[in-house]
Amino acid sequence: MNSHDFNKAAMGVLMFLLLAIGLHNLTEAVFHQEAMAANAFPIDVSAVASASVADVAMEVGPTIEELMQTANIDKGMTVFKKCAACHTPESGGRAKIGPNLWNVLGGDIATNGDFGYSNAMLAQEGNWTYEFLNTYLTKPKDAIPKNKMVFAGLKKGSDRASVILYLRSLSDAPIDLPVVATVEAVEAVVEAMPDTM
Ligand code: HEC
Repeated sequence: MNSHDFNKAAMGVLMFLLLAIGLHNLTEAVFHQEAMAANAFPIDVSAVASASVADVAMEVGPTIEELMQTANIDKGMTVFKKCAACHTPESGGRAKIGPNLWNVLGGDIATNGDFGYSNAMLAQEGNWTYEFLNTYLTKPKDAIPKNKMVFAGLKKGSDRASVILYLRSLSDAPIDLPVVATVEAVEAVVEAMPDTM
C-alpha cells in the first residue's frame, strides 16, 4: 500500500486505541454511579450472584490519572515529611533507613546501587510507574509482600498523588504527567485530523 493508505491505517489503529481507553473510563464512570446508588439505598446485596458490590466499589476508586489532576506539589512536600525520616530527596543524597529517592519515578524498581534492598523488593519486576507507586504507597506491605519499608501507607488519594507529584520533580528530566483519556479528548483528536485522511 502507498504511504497515504498506510497513514490512514495507522490513524485507524490509533483511533481504536484511544476509543478503547475512553470507553474503559466511561465504563468506570457508569459502574461508579451504580456503586453509589447501592450505597444510597438499603438493597439486599446478598442477592447479587457475581462480584459483590463491595468488590465493585473497591475497583472503581479514582484512578491515579484522575488523582494526579488535583495533585499539589507544596502539599506533596509536606506529605514527604513522613518519608524524610527514612529517605533523602536530593540528587546524590545518602541512603538512610531507605534508599535515596532521586529519579525514582519512572525508573527501575530497586536499582539504587547505594542501598541494600530486601529480596522481595529486588524480585519485583518493572518500573515505578504512577500506577504502581500509587498502589505501593497505599499499603506497602500488600503491594510488595515482605518488602522492608515499615510504613503503614497513605490512606488519602490526594496525599499520594501530591507526594508522587513531588517525587516526579526529583529528576533532571521529570517524566510526563499521566493523561486522562476521555471521549471528549478522542473527539478533539478526530476533529483535528486533516480532511485528506
Ligand atoms: C520507616 C522508614 C520508611 C518510611 C517512613 C518510608 N519509607 Fe520508603 N522505603 C523504606 C525502605 C527500608 C525501603 C526499601 C524496601 C525494601 O528494600 O524492601 C523503601 C523503599 C521505597 C521506595 C522504593 C525505592 C526504590 O529504589 O525502588 C519508594 C518509592 C519509597 N520507599 C517511597 C516512600 C515514600 C514516598 C514514603 C513516604 C510517604 C516512604 N517511602 C516512607 C523505608 C521507609
